[in-house]
Amino acid sequence: MAPGHRAVDIINARRKAGSIVAVIANGKGGCGKSTLTINMAIGYGLRKQRVLVVDADIEQKTVSKWPRPAGLMGPKVVTWPTVEILDKLAEVIGQYDVVLIDMAGRDDRAAAPVMAIADMLISPAKPSHQDLSELDRFVRVAKVRNISHLVVFNEATREMTGELGQLVKEFARFKPFLPTAIQQLAGYRRAYAFGRGVLEYKGAHPAKENFDRVFRQIDMAIQQARAKSGLVQP
Ligand SMILES: Nc1ncnc2c1ncn2[C@@H]1O[C@H](COP(=O)(O)OP(=O)(O)OP(=O)(O)O)[C@@H](O)[C@H]1O
Ligand SMILES: [Mg+2]
Repeated sequence: MAPGHRAVDIINARRKAGSIVAVIANGKGGCGKSTLTINMAIGYGLRKQRVLVVDADIEQKTVSKWPRPAGLMGPKVVTWPTVEILDKLAEVIGQYDVVLIDMAGRDDRAAAPVMAIADMLISPAKPSHQDLSELDRFVRVAKVRNISHLVVFNEATREMTGELGQLVKEFARFKPFLPTAIQQLAGYRRAYAFGRGVLEYKGAHPAKENFDRVFRQIDMAIQQARAKSGLVQP
């Protein structure tokens, strides 16, 4: 039996029983992977899901350094090197409803087996021609391996509305793009600094309103991908 084979079986059995696994990845640095991971983790936590966040960026450890106040509802955060994720996850996945993996990104060969156990590969990307061009190889890996892939524009501004439409057209092979883009808002940075997710802002808040839509669309895309994969009955 190939190494890791048993781990994959355990993980897939658990996925079949209902656990969601999403990998947040994009070879490009600074595109918003950790911000998206944290905010999704809080989103699922608010839905009373037990969330595990795997910080695979063992050098930067952005999610591991997120100053989440003790005592608050929140995800369990672990820091695991990419090559150890499958074996380590197999040991604990039974305790979680949702697993979000923040991938360090550049090492494609190590990342591929992890991507293969994901219900969805999510790539935040800045709305720029250059950044989407660099995302091409990821899109190809996902296609070849038949992994559902979702591209989410991050740090969009109001002036970019026309540009987003152009990029969606030009990069139609990247389908699907999430309909709602994550906007560039100070609220995302501020929430991180306080160890919070933007959905935890009290009352109306631009980042909260923006991410509320983004999160619901992402979750729906994940559910659709799961149904399409035959993993769960639609
Ligand atoms: N939508 C946003 N609005 C405002 N600031 C943002 C937004 N998304 C990300 N940022 C900021 O941009 C920087 C990079 O974001 P983040 O750390 O999430 O990216 P990353 O892809 O995880 O980066 P790395 O490749 O270094 O791990 C951070 O300072 C973050 O606070
Ligand atoms: Mg990061």
